[in-house]
This record gives sequence, C-alpha cells and structure tokens, in this order.
Amino acid sequence: MLTFALSKGRLANKILDMLRKMNLCDITIDDDDRRLVIEAGDYRFFLAKPSDVPTFVDLGVADLGVVGKDTILEENRDITQVLDLGFGKCRMCVCGKVEDGMSYKLKNNLRVATKYPHIAKAYFDSINQNTTIIKLNGSVELGPVVGMSDVIVDIVESGRTLKENGLEVKEVIHELSARLVANNASLKTKYDEISEIIKGFKELVKE
Ligand code: PRP
Repeated sequence: MLTFALSKGRLANKILDMLRKMNLCDITIDDDDRRLVIEAGDYRFFLAKPSDVPTFVDLGVADLGVVGKDTILEENRDITQVLDLGFGKCRMCVCGKVEDGMSYKLKNNLRVATKYPHIAKAYFDSINQNTTIIKLNGSVELGPVVGMSDVIVDIVESGRTLKENGLEVKEVIHELSARLVANNASLKTKYDEISEIIKGFKELVKE
C-alpha cells in the first residue's frame, strides 16, 4: 500500500484527478466531506494542513506528499523532492513600498514581516543583512503599509495585493510551484510503486 499526505482542499482534488487519469484510483472529495483518511485499493490518503505535509512524509507516516515549494523550504524537513508538478506557480519575494525604492538595502536592522520566518531569515543571513523578523499569519502586506515593518517576504501570484496596497516586488528569492515529495526510506523500499506514480505524473505534467 502507498500512503499520500495531501493538502486539504483544491490541491487534494487536483491530485486525485491526476490519479484518476492514470487509472490508479477513483476518488472524489466534495466540500461536505470531513474524512481525514481515505482508502481506495492500494492507496491511502491523509488530508493534512499544508504546512504539516512535510512532517508526515519525513516521519514516514506517508510515503509521498504533495505540497508547495514554499512549505518545503519553510519546514526544511529531511525529505526528497521527486517532481515539479508545474502548477501553483508563484514567487517568494521581498516586497516593500513603491516610494521606498531600494533604501531597505541600507538599513542596519531591517524589519521584515512574513508568514515564512525561516525563509526570510535564511535569505537575509545569506546576504549578511541584520533583520528583526516579525511573524504574521496573514495579510502580511499590512506590515509596511502601517509602518510595522520596512519590507515583507511573501508569496506573489498575480501581484494584485501588492499593487492595490502601494507595494512592489524588490527581489525574487525563490520560484515556487507544487512538488511531489517522498520519504527517503520509502524511495528505497517501495521503489517500483513510487516510480510508477512519478512516471504517470510526468506524463500528465507534460500535457
Ligand atoms: C497570499 C499571499 C499574498 C497573496 C498574493 O495570501 O500571502 O498576500 O496571496 O496573491 P496575489 O499576488 O495574487 O495578490 P493569501 O491569499 O493566502 O491570504 P493571507 O494574506 O491571509 O495569507
């Protein structure tokens, strides 16, 4: 049996659609469904919170997981990325007020608001810039708007949230998309089953 950790919601249904197209299992989850474990044939699915998917895979509770690259970087678990699924594309960026230009580069102690404290710290450490990281849980763009932070580190997809709040991208830190990840031991012990899944996903990603 192969076990998957999936992010609850749209992403889970997208993956189940792909598995259906590969004739591997036939499950749909509707909005009223509250099941957290779903079994079908040789497959078992855990519906987890996105940020917990790498944990389930690292601890070997799930052989495979599907999760955004942002979560993989932030959680920094000992797991293997086996495939870029090519959807959910967006960018992790340093953003700030349009009128501030690049002045943040000169700050001695840069105040950074973010939902991704590890990604933000790793980036600014890598360029030797001192920071105070302010962890927020959402509406991160408020940081510079209300004067709580100099910049933010956040996901930019369409760019609308930035534009409508007088902010802009200053630097792109990472290109992001949904990834198939695997438990390191499962990659050895279930090599054939996992290879079949990777091959099937690769075909669909190409389309
Ligand atoms: C995400 C992200 C940005 C926004 C970017 O927030 O944190 O705020 O989407 O998308 P855009 O470039 O298309 O405008 P989310 O919608 O997850 O809500 P949150 O602010 O509550 O985290």
